[in-house]
Amino acid sequence: MSVLVTGGTGYIGSHTIVELLNAGEKVIIIDNFSNSKPEVLDKIKEITKKNVVFYKINYLDEKEMQKVFEENPDIEVVINFAGFKAVGESVQKPLEYYHNNVTGALILLQMMKKYHVKKFVFSSSATVYGEPEKIPLTEDCKVGGTTNPYGTSKLMIEQILQDLYHSDSSWDICILRYFNPVGSHESGLLGEEPQGIPNNLMPYIVRVASGTLKELSVFGNDYPTPDGTGVRDYIHVVDLAKGHLKAIEKLRKEEKGLYIYNLGTGTGYSVLDMVKAFERATNRKVPYKIVERRPGDIATCYADPTKAYEELGWRAEKTLEDMCQDAWRYIEKQTEK
Ligand code: WQD
Repeated sequence: MSVLVTGGTGYIGSHTIVELLNAGEKVIIIDNFSNSKPEVLDKIKEITKKNVVFYKINYLDEKEMQKVFEENPDIEVVINFAGFKAVGESVQKPLEYYHNNVTGALILLQMMKKYHVKKFVFSSSATVYGEPEKIPLTEDCKVGGTTNPYGTSKLMIEQILQDLYHSDSSWDICILRYFNPVGSHESGLLGEEPQGIPNNLMPYIVRVASGTLKELSVFGNDYPTPDGTGVRDYIHVVDLAKGHLKAIEKLRKEEKGLYIYNLGTGTGYSVLDMVKAFERATNRKVPYKIVERRPGDIATCYADPTKAYEELGWRAEKTLEDMCQDAWRYIEKQTEK
């Protein structure tokens, strides 16, 4: 049996592929390198010494997708990482975002239905909670009030999955709501490579530390948090990747269902905590200045990850120091070249 992974050469996808291969799974990857590079496949091989089946196709291409399912009758489960993910860009290009994320998911699900593959793991995001109803966030907190098309596309797909399961309970679906993934594989071979100036905090910090960017702008220090800066639940991408293996294990069990899990550590760190932790872990300086709040940001967001621990037996194990050191190692390796 094999696991089909869309978006398998992206940031979270590639780390998950490594964990799947290390666990002895047979993997098929679909990607069109819209936000990743073919070299990622070589790195995966270098780390795991294992081969994957790879298709360079766009998951919106129904004919090509059909070919993948025809050629691989042993697909048992699909993990969907494919999709656009830049929040700011999604505001500028809503049609492109809805088309790529929502239509892509629909095509994938239709294909799965046609070929009787009914186990599905979906990459969702804590962004679906909008303004948090309470902290820490539990999976039964209200969702909605997303402030950008990226977030709304995740919410729409969650709704589609609910409706699908409601219509046919032979589906077996796991929705994983990621908090803030950071860091990279300890080999320094895989990592996060945002195009252009990064929007997210950790990629920005590493580029300031390496001298590529001058200083970090801290978006607001007047939030109702201990030091006034935004608090988030940063989770090591390898811990997150391992959560997908646990999700697959769950779907392989007898009973069918639609399950939702928060994948976070349960601990919130502020922007300044992150700057200090990074400086300590890497011995580099991260100059910063305080600027205006960023529109759409919330003060505090972190998970209650109890449900994932109780039902999947998963919890994050890596420390903030690991997250900082591993994020930095990847950048150092990149600059060595
Ligand atoms: C974290 C904190 C910022 C950059 C977003 C998306 C979410 C998900 C992950 C995924 C906040 C502050 C940041 C900077 C700063 N998307 N910050 N200076 O906003 O929690 O989540 O990314 O694919 O859907 O909304 O993450 O890393 O952008 O910000 O001060 O240059 O760092 O204000 O408090 P966020 P982030």
